[in-house]
Amino acid sequence: MSQWTPVARSADVTTRPLAVELDGLPFVLVRFADGGPVRAFADRCPHRLVPLSAATPTGGTLRCAYHGWEFGPDGRCVAIPSAPGQAVPPRADLPPGPAVQERDGRVWLDRATPAPGDPPELCTNEDSALRRAWHPVGLVAELPFTAELLGEAWSVDEDLHVEPAPHAVTTRWGLVWLAPQEPLTELFDDPDREDRQFAGAWLPPARTSVAAAVVADNFLDVAHFPFVHAGTFGAGEERAVPEYTVQGDPDGCRSVQEQWFDNPEDPGVLDGVRPVRQRRRATYVYRAPFQLMLRLEELDAGAVKTILFFAQPESLTRTRIYTKMLLWGIGGAERPGPDVVARECAFEEAVLAEDLALQSTMTLTGLPLRMRDELHVRADRLGVALRRELVRFRERAANPGGAGE
Ligand code: FES
Ligand SMILES: [Fe+2]
Repeated sequence: MSQWTPVARSADVTTRPLAVELDGLPFVLVRFADGGPVRAFADRCPHRLVPLSAATPTGGTLRCAYHGWEFGPDGRCVAIPSAPGQAVPPRADLPPGPAVQERDGRVWLDRATPAPGDPPELCTNEDSALRRAWHPVGLVAELPFTAELLGEAWSVDEDLHVEPAPHAVTTRWGLVWLAPQEPLTELFDDPDREDRQFAGAWLPPARTSVAAAVVADNFLDVAHFPFVHAGTFGAGEERAVPEYTVQGDPDGCRSVQEQWFDNPEDPGVLDGVRPVRQRRRATYVYRAPFQLMLRLEELDAGAVKTILFFAQPESLTRTRIYTKMLLWGIGGAERPGPDVVARECAFEEAVLAEDLALQSTMTLTGLPLRMRDELHVRADRLGVALRRELVRFRERAANPGGAGE
């Protein structure tokens, strides 16, 4: 039997999606045309479960803020930009939402509609398996400090004495690392041990409300560039994601991808020697649980930019992010000067700010780990590999001495 419940004023529902709640569950209301009927859907994109209330109306469709999937008034997914020309899987469609009525200047939803599926299984920042890993807790330059890690406070003094005592503490790349219990994986090797010519610099540490696993997933994702990073480098990026492969790596994975990109800062472009559209080799390296590296080789200009990226799982609603840039040959000089380093860091901060803005719309407290909770497409191979590694990491932590160790 229908149980109509008012959830919004009619006048507040426009072509801009509006988040509402019904029995504690998030829904989105939207009109697909000015003055058109109100539609209601569960407030999550089937791809990565981000809220559709952050989506953009395109005049007839709703475009998800993360990877630009578009949905029509009937909930049909009509575009997956990373895979143009390919059939859209039926599971990409939005499941039917609750019945809607507009009456007395209000929008009513029928509570009798069954709630959308069971909740996803998440890797959160307080997952006990994370005790078996190295985590960054602060820059050496910040010592002494009290850090939050896995929902606990740890005080660290200048001599690296830590209270309460962890299994181990160390420093690497100017960061203090702490392992609450014996770590299952080692820290990355120094990525540029062979070549000390690079210039390195840390970005100021940043904070986000999403889980470290979500931050890692965002870092490994390339399909979001044209949508999330349109204000920095994304506007010139291809929407289609070419096929790429993912290889196993010690306790993680890596992927080498060749991409086209615009390189207006290349002195060769300014001198008219090279076109602005150039080739780049991007090598993504991931090690469980949250060590990440991206090496960008500019194949035409011969420059290399390496980004070290680490996430500190502080609490259920806080993650601290550390980004280090290692630059070689950028701007024409082998070892870039301070002005080039400052410019590159400012640019990377602007890129990170775009990711943080998207993350501020996310509501899940962790990264879904069961494959069926999300919908993975070909462009998501690295994200799938990340989820598998996190599952494997959790299993190893749960079975000390088991076959996985
Ligand atoms: S398109 Fe919505 S999360 Fe990817
Ligand atoms: Fe991003």
